[in-house]
Amino acid sequence: MKATAIAGSNIALIKYWGNRDEALRLPMNNSISITLDNAYTTTTVEFDARLKAEEVVINGQPMSGAEKNRVTRFLDALRVRLGFADYARVQSENNFPMASGIASSASAFAALAKATVGARGLDLTPAQISGLARLGSGSAARSVLGGFVEWQTGSGDADSVAVELAPPAHWHICDVIAIVATGEKKVKSTEGHTTAHSSPLYPARLAHVATTLEPLRRSIANRDFATLGDIAELDALSMHAVMMTATPSLLYWTPATTRLLHSIREWRAEGLPAYFTLDAGPNVHILTLPAEVETLRARLKAIPEVERVLVCNPGEGTRLVETHLF
Ligand code: PMV
Repeated sequence: MKATAIAGSNIALIKYWGNRDEALRLPMNNSISITLDNAYTTTTVEFDARLKAEEVVINGQPMSGAEKNRVTRFLDALRVRLGFADYARVQSENNFPMASGIASSASAFAALAKATVGARGLDLTPAQISGLARLGSGSAARSVLGGFVEWQTGSGDADSVAVELAPPAHWHICDVIAIVATGEKKVKSTEGHTTAHSSPLYPARLAHVATTLEPLRRSIANRDFATLGDIAELDALSMHAVMMTATPSLLYWTPATTRLLHSIREWRAEGLPAYFTLDAGPNVHILTLPAEVETLRARLKAIPEVERVLVCNPGEGTRLVETHLF
């Protein structure tokens, strides 16, 4: 009744923003991401028939209130779908700051889904676990798979799941994450998604995404970095344009964010293959190739607003491990 799973976060190249069904987290568009090796969550789950409520500890802190409710609501959905009643002890650790634009919810709910299925002794496919993880956080559906991943809108709950486009070893593309803020963000993405439809730009974004999915898949298959970078950068700007023009308006960028966006464009104009993307936060993910990582790291070090740099490569999908956190 106890299992531990590790799940990498992921960075979307074509983003998920907006749902057609908020409760089931059925997205408006397909999204494509890279599962990351070096930004991960480890979660141990133990079911115990004697417990009267969930016990949730994240990064050493016992959770209560909204954070804990989100875990219980998620496990409630799994209890119904998988057919059991026990509450769980859950302990979870991230190796990166939570809620700061690195998708901690992606790795958190992917790990929790996998550990729950493992602890219950169930044998589910990655696609089935992806569908379960989606109920906790949309992007978690993608973190269940490794490497280059596409989450399909599907026709409903059963087939809105992620599939692997290419394994991690296919291409050693790098995500150099420039962390400019480690605090909790003000508006979490679950709430943010509900505002997408209010943006006058949203229909244009959805129409545009539909035209970039196939070119992005092809750029991954052909290891065409410039095409991938162009698509990812434009997509991040399109998502943030929707965020900014929604009601209420969401402005995740800080002066440090814009400074970095300008720097990356300047470096690229000088010949450095680097493209930016951003999630729902101020931190900047820089997509680059392995040979450029040290140059990039040195340049980022010279920017005072950059608090920390985290370098990730494509990583494995969510897996069970033998060592438990408790
Ligand atoms: O999975 P959520 O609800 O945290 O949404 C993630 C949204 C973005 O990170 C902004 C985009 C994405 O596709 O990961």
